[in-house]
Amino acid sequence: MPASGGWTNPLRDPADRRLPHIAGPSALVIFGITGDLSRRKLMPAIYDLANRGLLPPSFALVGFARREWDHQDFAEFVKKDVEERSRTGFREEQWAKLAEGIRFVEGAFEDDVAFDQLRETLAQLDRERGTDGNHAFYLAIPPKAFPTVLSQLRRTGMATSEDPDTWQRVVIEKPFGHDLESARELNTLVNSVFPEESVFRIDHYLGKETVQNILALRFANQLFEPLWNSHYIDHVQITMAEDIGLGGRAGYYDGIGAARDVIQNHLLQLLALIAMEEPVSFSPRELQAEKIKVLSSTRNIAPISENSARGQYGPGWQGSEQVPGLLEEGFSPDSTTETYAAIAVEVDTRRWAGVPFFLRTGKRLGKRVTEIALVFKRAPHLPFDDSMTAELGQNAMVIRIQPDEGVNLRFGSKVPSTSMEVRDVNMDFSYGEAFTVSSPEAYERLLLDVLLGEPSLFPVNEEVELSWSILDPVLDEWAASGRPETYEAGTWGPESADEMMERTGRAWRRP
Ligand code: BG6
Repeated sequence: MPASGGWTNPLRDPADRRLPHIAGPSALVIFGITGDLSRRKLMPAIYDLANRGLLPPSFALVGFARREWDHQDFAEFVKKDVEERSRTGFREEQWAKLAEGIRFVEGAFEDDVAFDQLRETLAQLDRERGTDGNHAFYLAIPPKAFPTVLSQLRRTGMATSEDPDTWQRVVIEKPFGHDLESARELNTLVNSVFPEESVFRIDHYLGKETVQNILALRFANQLFEPLWNSHYIDHVQITMAEDIGLGGRAGYYDGIGAARDVIQNHLLQLLALIAMEEPVSFSPRELQAEKIKVLSSTRNIAPISENSARGQYGPGWQGSEQVPGLLEEGFSPDSTTETYAAIAVEVDTRRWAGVPFFLRTGKRLGKRVTEIALVFKRAPHLPFDDSMTAELGQNAMVIRIQPDEGVNLRFGSKVPSTSMEVRDVNMDFSYGEAFTVSSPEAYERLLLDVLLGEPSLFPVNEEVELSWSILDPVLDEWAASGRPETYEAGTWGPESADEMMERTGRAWRRP
């Protein structure tokens, strides 16, 4: 707090937002510890938080699974993933401290005795390790198991406590339902056990540094915001392209598809951050209010059949590697699940009237890249001969979310010579060059925020439901129109996606 009339050392100011916030005493219970998400993302992130000094000495990690393990076996299991994947480097002494707080409870989700045992384990940790009754339950499990686990947490009294000085939180992973109706059912179910303020829905894109930078870029600068509207912007392209195929994930993905997997959550959240008005403050409530306004004014451009595209990858080449198609990877030949999806929407507000937003995502595309491109209108008048500007494209600002994080501005410049010729050039900001520290993984930030009770980066149920109401009509249209088109692996998707853009007189970027 500023002392009256005097200078305050910012390092002493508890309100200084630049200081790292360290989680308070707490235990994190993970269901689904042997799954891919836990092993590749959660366990390394927990260790990295500990290694960065952001977890308290009393922190405890509790795994729950149907394995005949003791605490030590589970700790060894976690250690392997941590050694292999930690971002900050493995240190034996740091690991030893974290391992002291690792516990394991054996059981199935239907097993009452196992959940009673979990409650006992947490009570013991509270008493002996000092986790103080603060418990987060991470459901890294298929949604069909949610009802069972949630009702066990309610039955055992672990979901709530009468002690107002403690907290209980639940963390859920997407998919948040299958459509609007099932999302509502899921929200009702979750909220019947945990109050909404204790529910943390993970959309890991919001935990990415470059995604958070959208707010800094827009609202900390004077340079961009005056141009951020329909007077200057022709259209926006939001791309999340992956070069990987489905491999072992066919089981999860079949019946879900690219639109539900990625557009419903990650891409519509990016749209919300790009299109929203300046929030009154960065408090969670104000931020959510602005995102909700955008999502409730977002509409599909009609007709949906001409303003959307989908596809399934066939065999092809990824660089010099020959890769199989979807069917060779275990999909049934009559599966209509799309691995590529593109939609065109508009945001019905004064700021964005008439500006199309094109969202696309796909597996086995030419390259792994996530970016947001704001493509500007052409200058209203060019005082040059046509031949001088034949090579001049539209100005663009590209926010590179990954892998090569940064921001790029494209504009016209004179080509050095005695004549006048204007051509596109690029001005580039790269995180790697501007900052010496590497960015934390999204899951580090999000797990820490769960333990801190900081909800800004977690979509609330209204956002989830609004996103489904944007996507549902597209999914209905697709369900009624047969099989998706096949595209060759290693290309930029189906021809119908190019045609969809051509009809508007535009073209997809080839990042
Ligand atoms: C997940 C999707 O949410 O995001 C996956 O379910 C996808 O299908 C993944 O591969 C991509 O995440 P990232 O952080 O690598 O872009």
